[in-house]
Order: sequence, then structure tokens, then C-alpha cells
Amino acid sequence: MSTFPSPSRRSFVAAGLAAAVWGLSACGGDESTGTAAAGDAVSVGFSQLGAESGWRTANTESVKASLTTAKGFDLKFVDAQQKQENQIKALRDFIAQDVDVIAFSPVIETGWDEVLQEIKDAGIPVVLVDRTVDTSVEDPYTTWIGADFEQEGKTAGEWVAKNAPDAKVFELQGTLGSGAQVDREKGFNAVAGNQVVGKASGNFTRAEGKTAVEAALQTYPETTLIFTHNDDMGLGAIEAVEAAGKTPGKDVQIVSVDGVRDGLQALVDGKFNYVVECNPVFGTQLAELVKKVAAGEDVPEETIVKDEAFDQTTTQATVDARAY
Ligand code: AHR
Repeated sequence: MSTFPSPSRRSFVAAGLAAAVWGLSACGGDESTGTAAAGDAVSVGFSQLGAESGWRTANTESVKASLTTAKGFDLKFVDAQQKQENQIKALRDFIAQDVDVIAFSPVIETGWDEVLQEIKDAGIPVVLVDRTVDTSVEDPYTTWIGADFEQEGKTAGEWVAKNAPDAKVFELQGTLGSGAQVDREKGFNAVAGNQVVGKASGNFTRAEGKTAVEAALQTYPETTLIFTHNDDMGLGAIEAVEAAGKTPGKDVQIVSVDGVRDGLQALVDGKFNYVVECNPVFGTQLAELVKKVAAGEDVPEETIVKDEAFDQTTTQATVDARAY
């Protein structure tokens, strides 16, 4: 198990974010200072992008466990079922409800200009969670918390370049146009791009990952290694590889990202060869950021959640102790 070096994150498309105080017009807030009144619950509209993976489920549980009434929050949680139009609708509903803070995890990077401008015009601060946006709106959010996806892809690529330099790689990508897909592809290809023979999306789900790998094994029969952008698609890949009469982890090696319990179990079982962690349990950090943003306090432009990586020396005890 190793820990990532301190990541040098790429600059955001929307650069120059200020930890600025946004003018809040929330009930109970002080409009002259733009801060929520002390003692009031902080109302937070959270648009989760879906429930597509074990990672997402763990992230949702962490958010809900941290933004509770007992901890001073009034959480309005909406699951967008991986549809951008659902997220945009939820964001507009949060504006109509005049929440103190809007938090959301954008399913893809583009297409947010209009609604981000509407949120800004309403004076509601945005905390971006997990994924990133590519927008022309100036200072579109106050702060962002999530993982360094590019470093995750690079860490996976470095393992491949070192341990399987002759492998022919099929890249099983997440939702096309999402920050997680774009940056993991970038990081991996910077290091091991010369080994990639083909790529396709499995939309971060187990079922679509299986379908994509079934097709890939026909189109790219030379494949000896699959780099999957998440564990769920990798678990689908195991099924497809076995159905093709091959042994996952041996005939076709699998390098994955996430490190959910099922993914680490596949590693211990010898079906995955390497797993780069993407830690979904950052609800406590998110809650602290939201409180500070609502109070008009300074917050960092970005908070990078720490990741580790796991190889086949990982033990069953580690899997059993995994919280998600
Ligand atoms: O944005 C994080 C990614 O989204 C996780 O790696 C994946 O499992 C999830 O769907």
C-alpha cells in the first residue's frame, strides 16, 4: 500500500477562484454581512449525480451522515440518476428555495453556464463536490473538494509501465466528458498511452462495463490488460473476461480505480492486479467547508482528498476492515 505524493493539480478552467464572501439572502441570514445567523441551521441543497457505483453509494452515505440536523444542517438531497437535466432542475429548485449553500457533483464538465450564472445572480455560494466543471462563468464556485483524478490515472499508468510494459491495454472509461474520465485518461495516457490499443466507455456501471469489455474482446483480441476507470466496471470486466474463457488477473490483467470493498476483494482473489484508491469518505470535510462558506469565512480554493494505492500483497484483513 502506498500513499500518493502531494498532487500538483491542474489549474481549473474557471481559474482565480476567490474564497470570497458571497452575498447571502437566506432566511435568518444577515444580508448586510452576507453571513448566516449564528445558531441557525445551514440549509444546503446537495445535487448528487447518481447512484451508479459503490463509490457513489459510499459518498452519499458519508455526505448524509455529516450534514445532519444534529450537526446544524438542513440538507435537501436530490439524486439526479446520472442525468444532467435532472441536476439542472434540482439546482433551480434550490435557488427557488433560497438555500444558504448549493453543493453539487456535476455528472459531466460542460453545460453548466446558464444555471451557474443563475445561482450566482441569486447570491448563493456553490461548493463543488468530487467532479469539476468547465464553464465560462467567472468565479462560478467558492470552493471545490475531491480527488486528484489525473494523479490517479498517472499512478495506474506508472504501475502498468513498470510491471506490464509489454501489455496491450484496453481502457475502460467512465462517463464520457466527466472530470473523472477526462483526467484519468489524461494521467494514464501521459505515462502508458503507447500501450493502449483501444478504449470505450462503460459509464461507471458494472453492467455497461461488462458490455463494453465483451465488445472489446472481439474488437481488440490482442488485449492483455484492462485499465478501468472504476471498480464497478472492472467487476463487470471480470465477468466478460471469464465468459470469454480467459482468466482475469492472468490472461487479462485488470488495473482499477476506487478501492471499494468489492474491488479490493477482487484484488485479494487475484482477479484485479492493482487498485488506485479514490476515497469517497469526505463528508466531514465537506460539512466543515459548507459551514465556513455559509458563515462567510475564508476557505481554500480546493481541498484534495488523500488517496492510496493497493497491490496484490493486500490482505483479506484489509478488505474486511474496509469501511465501504
Ligand atoms: O467521480 C468519482 C467517480 O465516480 C468514481 O471513481 C466512480 O466510481 C464514480 O462513479
